[in-house]
Amino acid sequence: MASKQLPGLLRTHHCGELRESDIGKTVSLCGWVNKYRNLGSLHFIDLRDKYGVTQLGFEQFKGDLNELKKCSLESVIQVSGVVAARPDTAKNANMDTGLVEIQVTEIKILSQAEEVPFLPHGMVQATEDLRLRYRYLDLRSKKLQDILALRSTTARKTRETLYGLGFTEVETPILYKTTPEGARDYVVPSRVHKGKVYALPQSPQTLKQLLMIANTDKYFQICRCFRDEDLRADRQPEFTQIDIEVSFPTQDYMKNLATEMVTNLFGMPAGFSMEPITYDEVMRDYGSDKPDVRFALKQMIVTDLFKGSAFATFAEVAAAKYGMVKAMFVPTSMGAPARKDIDNLTEIVKPYGGKGVAWFKVENNAVSGGISKFVDANLLNALSERSVEKGDGLWLFFAGSENIVHDCADAVRRHLGKTFNLIDPDKYAFLWVYDFPLFDYDAETNSLHAKHHPFTRPKDEDLDLFFSTDKEKIKDVKAYAYDIVCNGYEIGGGSMRIFDNKVQSKMFELLGFTPEEAAHQFGFFIEALKYGTPPHAGMAFGMDRVIMLLAKTDSIRDVIAFPKTASATDLMASAPSKPSDAQTKELGFSWLE
Ligand code: AMO
Repeated sequence: MASKQLPGLLRTHHCGELRESDIGKTVSLCGWVNKYRNLGSLHFIDLRDKYGVTQLGFEQFKGDLNELKKCSLESVIQVSGVVAARPDTAKNANMDTGLVEIQVTEIKILSQAEEVPFLPHGMVQATEDLRLRYRYLDLRSKKLQDILALRSTTARKTRETLYGLGFTEVETPILYKTTPEGARDYVVPSRVHKGKVYALPQSPQTLKQLLMIANTDKYFQICRCFRDEDLRADRQPEFTQIDIEVSFPTQDYMKNLATEMVTNLFGMPAGFSMEPITYDEVMRDYGSDKPDVRFALKQMIVTDLFKGSAFATFAEVAAAKYGMVKAMFVPTSMGAPARKDIDNLTEIVKPYGGKGVAWFKVENNAVSGGISKFVDANLLNALSERSVEKGDGLWLFFAGSENIVHDCADAVRRHLGKTFNLIDPDKYAFLWVYDFPLFDYDAETNSLHAKHHPFTRPKDEDLDLFFSTDKEKIKDVKAYAYDIVCNGYEIGGGSMRIFDNKVQSKMFELLGFTPEEAAHQFGFFIEALKYGTPPHAGMAFGMDRVIMLLAKTDSIRDVIAFPKTASATDLMASAPSKPSDAQTKELGFSWLE
């Protein structure tokens, strides 16, 4: 979109703008010295700004050419001159401004640069730590400026979409109280109230629900969330959500809303829909609740086929509580891993608690290798019947406790997807995963933890179970909770909310809060539910992950202007840093060494 230009800049044009039609015009440009060539009698500077590069020539320059020596790389200069055609031999059709140059008549060095730690254009050779330390230099690169622009456009499209649907943008506080989303809080000590802290919001969850109670009807906010948790390539301690809440919706409305957002943000064609899949199905087929479905390689639960099997290891697993055997069939047409690649799968599953991957091969109906001596025609038939793909290929097996089996099968599926080149980098494959369990259950401690968060509503048909007493059974309660998944990333998630304070109080009880603790942390919220609460639901998109997918990068640091490292530090400003003695005194705390 062409932007409106206001008069009053130090330049008449930017460095990506001039064309042959401008030849003869007197212009002035500002920018960074990208390259300086001194060919004895001829001098050239490539001047760069956000918009491109323009070549400067100095044949008409009447000033002191020695001045040019001060134009060290990355210095900021202002030049005036006349647009001229480049000689035929110097024309560069690959460059937007490659047919012209400016014959400089005046040059002013606005800011002479010292030798920079690295050059921000071309192939950046610097280590990531160095680039983060000098983030403002790295950000000069076209790649990162393009991502910042993409982020800005995405924020605009978000607002356009949600304003178009009648949403109101509301800001909520940053200095607040705990908003549990499964991570630790970042806390800020209060100077006025010694010994007390604010918590930075892990998300504005309770606040947006209070806005529904407050008659806002349709809320959104592009907001910062803070979570002190282990970081990964797609996780930052502070990140941005597109946060949404709606009164009186059905779950269908929420899916339609997510579809509208995805269509507009990802430019999906009219009529686009996300593939709906339940949590149980997605775990059964992919071993993950956020699978990359740009490729197949589905899995099958085959525990029953190994009950009483001669293969004792699997028979034991099949008989155990929470034991599971999963199979995955890799048709020869997809790829035929060599023996050493099959053995190497052990290394792939180890980090997930797996001990190995059992296997056998099928060729013309004959089985060989691995555990083939335990596989008779009946078992082979039973396996083939469950597989979409059949015939020649490699059968892989994962056995152990449910969670480990899913994780290992998922890791191997992702590994094979990559090594067999099954992934189309230009495709976006979306899933709408729904019917999540309400809880995660820890068998060792017989305790329940919120799978999404404590405000998620149990499904109506499971309410009796929810109000029962045996935690091991209550773990099977399903929730009105959903995720939006794209190319193996969870890009958003949400739920229908509890709007009955008795259900909410029971939820806190099941999560192990004493009534006093629940009242201390969430009393205000439980009370608010008593004064007329509309049924409501919401979701939040992880904006950084959306941009990662749009920009086709696999590092979240690429899509945040000033990101933190994997250990949550800012290398440029050296944050976090020690408070001064005066601050420590003022806040009234002392440090434990
Ligand atoms: P949830 O915790 O699932 O839900 O977060 C929503 C989305 O935010 C993104 N996300 C993150 N992105 C980067 N770094 C992180 N550390 C990080 N953590 C989460 C993910 C995720 O899908 N309040 C609820 C939403 C709701 O119920 O309305 C919530 O925060 O893309």
